[in-house]
Amino acid sequence: MSKPKAAVFASGTGSNFQAIMEKSDLACEVALLVCDQPGAGVIEKAKSYGVPTLVFQAKEYRDKREYEEMLVTKLKEAEAAWIFLAGYMRIVGETLLHAFDKRIVNIHPSYLPGFPGKDAIGQAYRAGVNKTGVTVHYIDEGIDTGPIIAQVEVAVEPEDTEDLLKKRIQQVEHRLYPQVINQLIEQTKSEG
Ligand code: GRF
Repeated sequence: MSKPKAAVFASGTGSNFQAIMEKSDLACEVALLVCDQPGAGVIEKAKSYGVPTLVFQAKEYRDKREYEEMLVTKLKEAEAAWIFLAGYMRIVGETLLHAFDKRIVNIHPSYLPGFPGKDAIGQAYRAGVNKTGVTVHYIDEGIDTGPIIAQVEVAVEPEDTEDLLKKRIQQVEHRLYPQVINQLIEQTKSEG
């Protein structure tokens, strides 16, 4: 049986995108990279893996609904059944949410509900907590509020700099996200 197809949405360097692509037994085919930042490092990464890219600029559309309608059309053309957000820096709107109900998943670099939103690693570091983490969750209309699928704690060591903490969090992300993606797809298959 052929693998289900997925799109990855990313706006940045794409280290999570790369970790997904490097998983040798990935249960889906990454059929499309969607990026809203022309020039983002993830675009070259996608090209190096032969993954088709869709780069758009939100400012060229009237509003979120208009660019999300365009995205839904392109995602359907690519036959994507899943959307995996990996550093996509836009809030997903109702057009995409309705078209991909319970099929949009995000990775966030904190142990939610702690430190939602931007710069979660910096937020945790500055707050002086002794642990933070990584969360994979479904997307809903809020910011990092959707149902949690998997979480891993990451300790903040006394000698940590923000950069060291970021590196350890990223290592956890790169291991966790591809695993959870596979689990979700296997689970969906067994549900028929
Ligand atoms: C990751 O920390 C992810 O958790 C967050 O955005 C960051 C993306 O990093 N949502 P990268 O582009 O995958 O390196």
